[in-house]
Amino acid sequence: MVRRLFIAGNWKMNTSSSRAVELAEQVAGALAYVDNIDLAVFPPFVYLSQVAEVLKGTALAVGAQDCFYEDNGAFTGEISTAMLKDVGCSYVIIGHSERRHVIGEADELINRKVLKAVGDGLKPILCVGELLEQRQADETDEVVSRQVKIGLEGLGKADVLNVTIAYEPVWAIGTGETATPEQAQQAHAMIRQLLGELYGGSVAQSVRIQYGGSVKPDNAAELLACPDIDGALVGGASLKVTDFAGIVAGGR
Ligand code: PGA
Repeated sequence: MVRRLFIAGNWKMNTSSSRAVELAEQVAGALAYVDNIDLAVFPPFVYLSQVAEVLKGTALAVGAQDCFYEDNGAFTGEISTAMLKDVGCSYVIIGHSERRHVIGEADELINRKVLKAVGDGLKPILCVGELLEQRQADETDEVVSRQVKIGLEGLGKADVLNVTIAYEPVWAIGTGETATPEQAQQAHAMIRQLLGELYGGSVAQSVRIQYGGSVKPDNAAELLACPDIDGALVGGASLKVTDFAGIVAGGR
């Protein structure tokens, strides 16, 4: 099974209404030629509708940076999956390292969100990754396996095919420090092996595993050339059109 590359731009808590629209227009223009890679951008919630409107009919899909696991009700500040679909999202990032380590989200909460997103027809990007001290203590495999196992708990084989896993070592996010292609490939291969144990070899071969953490135009090609790296989750560089376009070009 050939996995199409998937390059995603996580805008995090950046842009303004006018900048979000401008950036979306520029990115769509710069990547209009792409037909062999899946592309998506993840603006802040409040700009989703505007960005989705601009990107209608282009090669770029729109996703949200988080969601909640209930449909509606007294959950002040939360956003449901139905709301996200209503404004044109097809993807949602769940368990991003900043939500785990800045906001304090735990694996069980992340799992509820993944189940809800898949159940409601959104395609989640489940983010996993170890802290620097965990890598130094040789705990990477253990930490990442636990995050994958709990994050996917309760999903059947058909459902897992709608999930993308993003391996993002926490020490590489927004730091300018990137995992070497060898380190990244090793973690991705470990995740794929685990998916094989959980869901069987053919599912494991079909699930996309993205790398994230300071992906830039000058390191994208060698990362994306690794056999188990099926795309990139790009943060900082997705705010610069030439950088994002350069990363996509590196994946071709
Ligand atoms: P970065 O962020 O590319 O700025 O390191 C990646 C991410 O957080 O998804």
